[in-house]
Amino acid sequence: MRNLLLSIMLCLVAQTIMAQHSIIPEPVNYNGNGETLIIKDNLAFNVLTKDKEAIEYANQFKEYVDGFSINTSKANNAPTLSINLNKKKNTELGTEGYTLKVTASEISLTANEAAGIFNGFQTLKQLLPATPEVAPADGLKIAGCTITDYPRFKWRGLMLDVSRHFFTVDEVKEYIDKMAEYKFNVFHWHLTDDNGWRIEIKSLPKLTEIGAWRVERFGRFGETRPTPKADEATPYGGFYTQEQIKDVIEYAANKNITIVPEIDVPGHSMAALAAYPELATDKKPKYVSPGDKFSEWYGDGTFKMLVENALNPSDEKVYEFLDKVFTEVAELFPGEYIHMGGDECYHGYWEEDPAVREFMKKHDIADGEELQSYFVSRVEKIITSKGKKVIGWDEILAGELAKNTAVMSWQGMKGGIKAAKMEHPVVMSPTTFAYLDYSQGDHNVENWIYAKLSLEKTYEFEPVPEGVDAQYILGGQGNLWTEVIPTMPFAFYMTYPRALSLSETLWSPKAKKNWNSFIKKTEVHFDRFDATGTNISKAVYEPQVKIYEKDGKMFCELSNSIPNSKIYYTIDNTYPVNFGNEYKGAFEIPNGELNLRTQTFRNNKALGREIIISREELTARIKK
Ligand code: ACM
Repeated sequence: MRNLLLSIMLCLVAQTIMAQHSIIPEPVNYNGNGETLIIKDNLAFNVLTKDKEAIEYANQFKEYVDGFSINTSKANNAPTLSINLNKKKNTELGTEGYTLKVTASEISLTANEAAGIFNGFQTLKQLLPATPEVAPADGLKIAGCTITDYPRFKWRGLMLDVSRHFFTVDEVKEYIDKMAEYKFNVFHWHLTDDNGWRIEIKSLPKLTEIGAWRVERFGRFGETRPTPKADEATPYGGFYTQEQIKDVIEYAANKNITIVPEIDVPGHSMAALAAYPELATDKKPKYVSPGDKFSEWYGDGTFKMLVENALNPSDEKVYEFLDKVFTEVAELFPGEYIHMGGDECYHGYWEEDPAVREFMKKHDIADGEELQSYFVSRVEKIITSKGKKVIGWDEILAGELAKNTAVMSWQGMKGGIKAAKMEHPVVMSPTTFAYLDYSQGDHNVENWIYAKLSLEKTYEFEPVPEGVDAQYILGGQGNLWTEVIPTMPFAFYMTYPRALSLSETLWSPKAKKNWNSFIKKTEVHFDRFDATGTNISKAVYEPQVKIYEKDGKMFCELSNSIPNSKIYYTIDNTYPVNFGNEYKGAFEIPNGELNLRTQTFRNNKALGREIIISREELTARIKK
């Protein structure tokens, strides 16, 4: 009993400590000192390092406080902000860590390297109001504290798919801006797929002249959109010129973000084949898919492509083509990795083609999977010959990989576990915790997609599975596939707040993760996003509905993970008003023509949207 009381008290103390700030990701160490720094008109910048990057980051912060009409030159009695790099490295901080000290009279930010200064500024920004519009009139107040902070993982990534829908350079930069605020440091740019080739390759101009454009279609992507007609105009799309790409790379580097470009081969290549149909086995003319249904998925991971969308691995011309592509990609991108895709490649056309079969026989290749492994090892050689390391989706594990090749585990964690056991570097980005295209709330209020991933579930993500040597886990990544995400505002809606949760998982010590503290902080960040005019999902407020059958009757369980909230519901077709029917536990849904209606309330105000589920759908949910 005494132990129990002690643990409860410790928990309460821990929560009080955590509740002192709203920094996401949670810092390694935050100690409040009871002082308050007030910035009225001046904050004197004292840049004590000559490091160019650190000076660039200090200038970025200058610009930020400029927005609050704060003068940054020396002034009598004004607080100071000192920025410095450690002469003697602080081994605890590593390359990206920092210490930030705030007292009543000064702020001091130190790090071993400029990247740490950048990260420290992101924390400092979170200690300030989100925008001048929401700043108090009597000065910016910062609670005094000492923060020591550094990341748990070196790969903290988000992936943006710009093929399924195209996003402009400015939109990509906006996406990068938000990533940087939450200390992500890898932007995985999914540049090619069946629905558009988005990177200029000067030696292969048709890739963007033809492959970047498709017919305009609306309606359900991959389901009901009609296939293009012959000679139909292809107005939808776009691509990035190499100059634009260099600009984005530099922009990201100025925010401590490395870009990993993905050229997804041998599958997912319909746009490339629209430009160069001779690179497929059938050599038939192809089109850039507008999201028409050209594949069948059988629910057990198997699938069939109704149109060939893979490069022909038995054709030397394919490797000549890829050599040209990767030469230009490697020259453009300074990062150490190039992503070669490798996912969801259909082998049927290969296995049926007489020339490919002949090739397989000659090279003692048993089946399509082995042929894909042959392809992967050829591409590995091409990419490594350009001085880059290879990373690919977990399908590349089917064959033997070069020692340095990294694996991105997406089909759950098992690929990552297998790769780590084989001593390959691993990035964990499993569908189960990190797929940001899955809907965040009830399907009745979200856009249609076949799977759901709540904020709570993303927060459970642990990138180092039991029994795996942590040294092989580079980190993790959230993936935003954009089949059903046509605009950047909606990309933000889908990415956040789940990316906040991923950022905390990938940066903060495992022992510092705490849902109650995280959700409280997330609510503060909801206000910050609102203030900056970025719409993000608040589906976490909404009740989660579970329908089940017991003794031939239908029951409903409602839940949410939001502190200080109540769930109300009705089954009499009325609005679930505050003070009405409060949810206390599972209840029976009686027969009759009725809807379940439910909503969360706090302090007599509705939180989140109302969920309305018809009788028909309730019945359907039992069967699932
Ligand atoms: C993937 O989601 N096909 C990597």
